[in-house]
Amino acid sequence: MRHLMNPLDFTVEELDSLFDLATDIEHNMEKYAYACQGKKLATCFYEPSTRTRLSFESAMLNLGGSVIGFSDAGSSSASKGESVSDTIRVISCFADICAMRHPKEGAPMVAASKSSIPVINAGDGGHQHPTQTLTDLLTIRSLSGKLENFTIGLCGDLKFGRTVHSLINALVRYPNIRFIFISPEELKVPDYIIEMLKEKDIPFEEVIRLEDSMPHLDLLYMTRVQRERFFNEEDYIRLKDFYILNKEKMNLAKEHMLVLHPLPRVNEISVDVDEDPRAAYFKQVQYGVYVRMALILTLLEIQVDEEE
Ligand code: CP
Repeated sequence: MRHLMNPLDFTVEELDSLFDLATDIEHNMEKYAYACQGKKLATCFYEPSTRTRLSFESAMLNLGGSVIGFSDAGSSSASKGESVSDTIRVISCFADICAMRHPKEGAPMVAASKSSIPVINAGDGGHQHPTQTLTDLLTIRSLSGKLENFTIGLCGDLKFGRTVHSLINALVRYPNIRFIFISPEELKVPDYIIEMLKEKDIPFEEVIRLEDSMPHLDLLYMTRVQRERFFNEEDYIRLKDFYILNKEKMNLAKEHMLVLHPLPRVNEISVDVDEDPRAAYFKQVQYGVYVRMALILTLLEIQVDEEE
């Protein structure tokens, strides 16, 4: 039995197979309509979510399976003091696979260690968000045709943004990737990631101004300032609108630069960018459903034959 805690739990070859499956699902949805008939997905979300939870639920329903779960710790027995270890033992009696989001780093890993069903980390604190990374990689691969030879700018809250940490970890395994980290001083990429890049001799720059980097980027990954992880509201208010991507800044970019964002967006991308053909963030949400369908099939070891 396999779990997914970190994007690195899959080799590059396994990721290629997963993305091939997701792409087949995209083009042949009906072939997979009954693949998970009789199977149940539990979504155990101790932290708010729109995309990840509903994307998982949509993925399982598209596969002909069913979904159960909770979307708020307050409506679960966690509010009475039940541990994650006990909860997953209980969920293992009800469901075949579980997607878990938790504000504490490592909580899904604790759950996996006690679980008799596959557990997927759907985001743990400021640590990792592996299925967002699978979504990001599939989006890049599908829209640009490759996962190598590009310069990616990551902009915004690079300190608390778990999607950023997961994506950097995943991209360093592909050839000729160069990173430009664009953030205010207070929200820089954590030191452990910088050390990892230095050890692997991966080229990167840390800058403050977005405008200066725009002409050099093949991909721009915008992020929201993570209000819920700040220790004080004053700092959040000072930093929340530090970057706002708008039409004027888009005019500085390459013709085919893609703009990604894990969403939700607050102010960091002006709505006037949405109509720009380079804005890929809503397509990214759709790719998230395909890749989660592929992930559920892979972890449940369900194969769909050509004639089905
Ligand atoms: N991208 C993402 O994790 O969105 P939600 O918080 O809405 O799930």
